[in-house]
Amino acid sequence: MAPHILVVGGTGMLSGFVEALAGDGGRLSLLSRRASTFSRANITGHDVDYYDEAAFVAALDAVGPIDLAVGWFHTLKTGAPRLLAERVGKPGVPGRLFQVLGSATADPARPDRLATAAAVAKGLANCRLRQVVLGFMVEAGASRWLTDAEISAGVRSAVTRDLAYFGGRAGGALVG
Ligand SMILES: NC(=O)c1ccc[n+]([C@@H]2O[C@H](COP(=O)([O-])OP(=O)(O)OC[C@H]3O[C@@H](n4cnc5c(N)ncnc54)[C@H](OP(=O)(O)O)[C@@H]3O)[C@@H](O)[C@H]2O)c1
Repeated sequence: MAPHILVVGGTGMLSGFVEALAGDGGRLSLLSRRASTFSRANITGHDVDYYDEAAFVAALDAVGPIDLAVGWFHTLKTGAPRLLAERVGKPGVPGRLFQVLGSATADPARPDRLATAAAVAKGLANCRLRQVVLGFMVEAGASRWLTDAEISAGVRSAVTRDLAYFGGRAGGALVG
């Protein structure tokens, strides 16, 4: 059976990533406040605010078991990331959770931040955690944020290659 993939926050900068996943076939669920606008053949969007934990649980229950999850949350200081991690994989068949994280998470002066982020999957035997850290490009001596297309391609690459961590230096630029 094709894997069930769930993306939280896939309607913005990750929309290119979602489009690529949709092209792969399989079952794809999206959770965000306006996710239903993305619904079509193999994509089911569930409109939910991840700050509303009861509604978020209801949405997770509605989509069922998750083989692969990608989560882009503006903050990890809510219960939603942990609630998601708890529903990834099943006994004997671990699933994967890719956290998409802001670049400040990898601040070398704050090595605790990546560990704090990883703690959402602490003690969950069925959930294999991966981390993708957003970055920036340096061009002609100036830096700029990654474009949405670059972010989507980076996340796609991390998922396809099943990288435990993606966000290091490549070609002089931080990618991820
Ligand atoms: N380098 C960095 O560290 C970094 C970090 C952040 C952003 N950025 C840049 O800033 C740009 C915009 O960032 P953005 O944060 O606006 O990302 P975005 O991905 O464009 O939009 C946020 C995503 O999260 C969903 N979302 C937001 N609040 C939600 C909530 N309460 N409940 C459920 N879903 C929610 C949105 O969908 P709905 O509207 O459907 O809810 C959307 O899918 C990016 O393109 C990127 O270039 C860079």
